[in-house]
Amino acid sequence: MNPDERTMARLKAGCICKGVKLIRLIEAIESGATTVEAVQKACGIGDGPCKGKRCGEKVRQLLARDQDR
Ligand code: FES
Repeated sequence: MNPDERTMARLKAGCICKGVKLIRLIEAIESGATTVEAVQKACGIGDGPCKGKRCGEKVRQLLARDQDR
């Protein structure tokens, strides 16, 4: 991930209902989280009003992108 992408991830929402930025999700994956549940647990998301649907899809996309590398 290039510096511009990291900067944008600090601004974008990872979980809008809990105010968790996208960079937190990315850092959880970089720290070894390999499943949607592990990322959600590490970031304290997934149990908000979306019930894991909205943030879960973001995490799935990030994990898929990570596996393509
Ligand atoms: S977006 Fe907040 S719990 Fe899913």
